[in-house]
Order: sequence, then structure tokens, then C-alpha cells
Amino acid sequence: MTDKSTQPRVLIFDTTLRDGEQSPGATMTHEEKLEIAASLDEMGVDIIEAGFPIASEGDFAAVSEIAKQAQSAQICGLARANFKDIDRCWEAVKHAKRPRIHTFIGTSPLHRAIPNLTMDEMAERIHETVTHARNLTDNVQWSPMDATRTEHDYLCRVVEIAIKAGATTINIPDTVGYTAPRESADLIRMLLERVPGADNIIFATHCHNDLGMATANSLAAVEAGARQIECTINGLGERAGNTALEEVVMALKVRNDIMPYRTGIDTTKIMAISRRVATVSGFAVQFNKAIVGKNAFAHESGIHQDGMLKNRETFEVMRPEDVGLSGTSLPLGKHSGRAALRAKLKDLGYDMADNQLNDAFVRFKALADRKKEVFDDDLIALIQDSATSAAHDTLQVKRLRVICGTEGPQEAELTLSIEGVDHAIDATGDGPVDAAFNAVKMLYPHKARLQLYQVQAVTEGTDAQATVSVRLEENGNIATGQSADTDTIVASVRAYVNALNRLILRREKAEMGYDTKGVSYKDQS
Ligand code: KIV
Ligand code: ZN
Repeated sequence: MTDKSTQPRVLIFDTTLRDGEQSPGATMTHEEKLEIAASLDEMGVDIIEAGFPIASEGDFAAVSEIAKQAQSAQICGLARANFKDIDRCWEAVKHAKRPRIHTFIGTSPLHRAIPNLTMDEMAERIHETVTHARNLTDNVQWSPMDATRTEHDYLCRVVEIAIKAGATTINIPDTVGYTAPRESADLIRMLLERVPGADNIIFATHCHNDLGMATANSLAAVEAGARQIECTINGLGERAGNTALEEVVMALKVRNDIMPYRTGIDTTKIMAISRRVATVSGFAVQFNKAIVGKNAFAHESGIHQDGMLKNRETFEVMRPEDVGLSGTSLPLGKHSGRAALRAKLKDLGYDMADNQLNDAFVRFKALADRKKEVFDDDLIALIQDSATSAAHDTLQVKRLRVICGTEGPQEAELTLSIEGVDHAIDATGDGPVDAAFNAVKMLYPHKARLQLYQVQAVTEGTDAQATVSVRLEENGNIATGQSADTDTIVASVRAYVNALNRLILRREKAEMGYDTKGVSYKDQS
């Protein structure tokens, strides 16, 4: 057995709540952000990038609250290269036991052209802003955005300026997911060799996955001397996403023989947080996603199953338990009691308070009445469904009946409670889902546009539940709703109404003075 305690430590910097949440449609509520931050802290993430405080009142409030609640993780906020952003960021993170300011500016030729600064002017701006941040805290991270497309000489020059001005972490972003493993390693090596003072700071690697190489690029950077990996749960992030936390962490664990670096992550917490991020962001995890995909540990083919029964290592490089998947998957049924449900949910990573368990138990019983066997995935869908809807929501689905068949148009009879008062209507449409959505629109007129409608079977069989995701857009605000039911149309309407409730919440916050759209981090002024 290797003694890992002597291995170099790689810090895990999670940016699910900043770079991940920035991804169009992945917006999370304040409570969801706090919950995800608490889970990241508990699983051993070293630094949580909690948001971009100047972007909106909502972001500011979330970063401040996360800073107050964090137990051991450092809490970081993002700031562009100006004093106003940096001051606002400090105001939010300063409550943390270990606050960090992360300031950045785009240094590649294309990015330099945006604020229209010469190389010298930009160098001066970097010196001033990093010095300003360093006067507020001794924990300053600086990033040359689009570093992998920045001229090497200029990159060395600005990194040296940032170090001299007091940055303690230099992050090297591959902003557009353009680099490749060898180049990623060479860049870190080059900076370590050429930049005076580079030995005294930590180099971080921040990769995007546009060419599918984010994990490989991050690991290559570590082998070259980077000691911080920036990543997100499920690889959430703009375009093709960021480096996936679960992938780099498990790669370092499983292939520790050839990559002898340790992290502080409790890997058994991976599945639970992956599921939660998928639910709150509305970005479902693809079935064959490494580590956290539904099929990542499934062995369907005869040869594989036979090999697995003889020796699981034949086709498995890590144990499902290592990422928090329970070893057994015996289904529950309608005779299963509260204790069995609690134990099963605990196995699945959901430690529930008594009132949450009571609610889950009622829903479980209703499901078990309709479905002979309730599998792990059914329970996960059920828990995630109750987490997306709340008793105080403006809109609640009370009753739905659809009439469909070969002869259209299809009809839906819907009763919707709007602010506590029941309203009913009949509507027609091109198919039962269209008819039901039309009924919602007639009862609660709105301008939101349907951006995504996605149905997934939770388990096999004709009595399987369907999980439906709906994404709505209204005046630039995007909200996602999810629901699961053995009846696809019921799940669809609930998911639609969940998304609508979230948009209503956002509208109310905007009316209260919280601007919800914020500024773009790409806007550098
Ligand atoms: O990808 C990127 O360049 C970023 C920076 C703001 C660090 O996310
Ligand atoms: Zn990024």
C-alpha cells in the first residue's frame, strides 16, 4: 500500500457556483447555492468559488452567505480588473474564515482588444489591481484569461507582475478549451522555469472542455507542477463545460501509481452531489458520463456480467462504493416501512430530517401503490422532484386529465391553484403535452418561451417513471423545472409549472431590487 501522506497535495478549487452557474440555463436559487456550497465544503473541496459578487445583488448575497457558513473551505469570489469589482468581491468574501479574491483580465491578443489597452497599459492595470486586492487580503488569485492563446513572452511578463504585486495563486485558464495535454504541461513548465518568484506561488489549471480534453489537460498541468485544479461538478459550465471534479479526483485516486498526487476529497460524496447539481441546474448527466453517469458501473453484456461475477476487477477499475454508489440495489415495495426508506435514502446519500422523510414517505407510498418495485433510481427521482417544488409556490398542479387517441385534437382538463385559489380549464393541442401546456398558458398567461423539453425513463418497464426537464426563457431570464411520475404527461405539466414558479420567483426578486441578469465577466471595463 502506498503512503500517500508524503505525496504532493493538489488543491481542488470548485467553480460550480461561478463558472458552472454561468452556463445559460443553469441558474440556481439562493438556497440551492448555499446547499451545494455546504456539500462541497463537507466533501473536502479546498476552495469554493462561490460567485461573482458585482454581477448582481443575488450573487453578492449568495457569496456573503456562503462565506459565513463555510466550515473549512476557503471562499473565493471573482472580480474583474478594476477597484470597484475587487472591493465588492471583498465585501462579500470577507466573512469567511479564509477569504480569497480572484481577479482576472484577458491577456491574449483577442482579449486585449476588448478594453483596447496596449500591452504596457494592461501590465500597469494588472499591477494596480493585484496590489489593491493584496491590500485587502493576503489570499489573492490572479488569472490571465485566455492564457493558452497569449504570447509566451507577454504571459511571463504579466505573471511576474502579478506575483510581485502579491498574488499567491496564479491560475492559467484555457478559456476556450483550445489546448492539448502536452501543450498544457509545457506551458506550466515554461512559467515555472522563466518567471522569477514562480516557485513561491501556486499555479492553478483551469480548463474548458471544448475539444473534450479538459480532464487530460488538467492532469498534464499537474504533472508539470500545477498544484491547484479548477473544476466543476459534472463538468457543468459554459459551452462544453469545465473540467469535471469527479474525473480529475478519481483519476488521481485510481491511477495514483502513475500520478502520485493526493487530494483532500472524500470521494464517497461524489454521487450525491452530482445528482443534486444535476437537479438544481437542470443539466441532466449523460448516461455514459465518466464516474457519475447512470451506466458508468452498469455491465449489460453477457461476457462482462460473467467476468464481473468471477472477479469484479475484470471490467471495473474502481468500486462503485468509492464514489458513493451503494453496493446493493434491492428494490423497496409497498410494504416497506419508514425505517427501510430512511436506510435506503441514507445509502443513496440523502440524510433526511424527520419532516423531509415524512414528506418523502407519503410520496413513496403513493408511488409504490402504482409501481410494484421501487428502485434506487425511482427514489432519487422522487427526492429530486420534491426538492424542485415547494408548498409556497405560486402555481400548483391540482388535477389533470388528458384525452388522447388517433383522432386529434387532444384535450387536457387542468385545475391549477394560483396563489391558493383553484382555477380550471379545458384546452386542446397538438398532442397531449401541447394540450396540457396550453391549459397552463390559458390559466396563467405568460410570455415565457419553451427552450427545452426532455423526457427520460427512470427505470425499465412500462410502469417506469419518467423524469421530465423543462427550460423556460423570459426576458433573458432562464429557469429549469423537473418532475418525475409514472404518467409522463403529469410529470411534464409539473416540470413546466416548476420552471414557471422559478421564473415568478426571479421576477419578484427583480421587482424587489435584485437585478437577476448581472454583468458579464467577459465585459472587462
Ligand atoms: O475560463 C476562464 O478564463 C475563466 C476566468 C474568469 C478565470 O473562467
Ligand atoms: Zn472558465
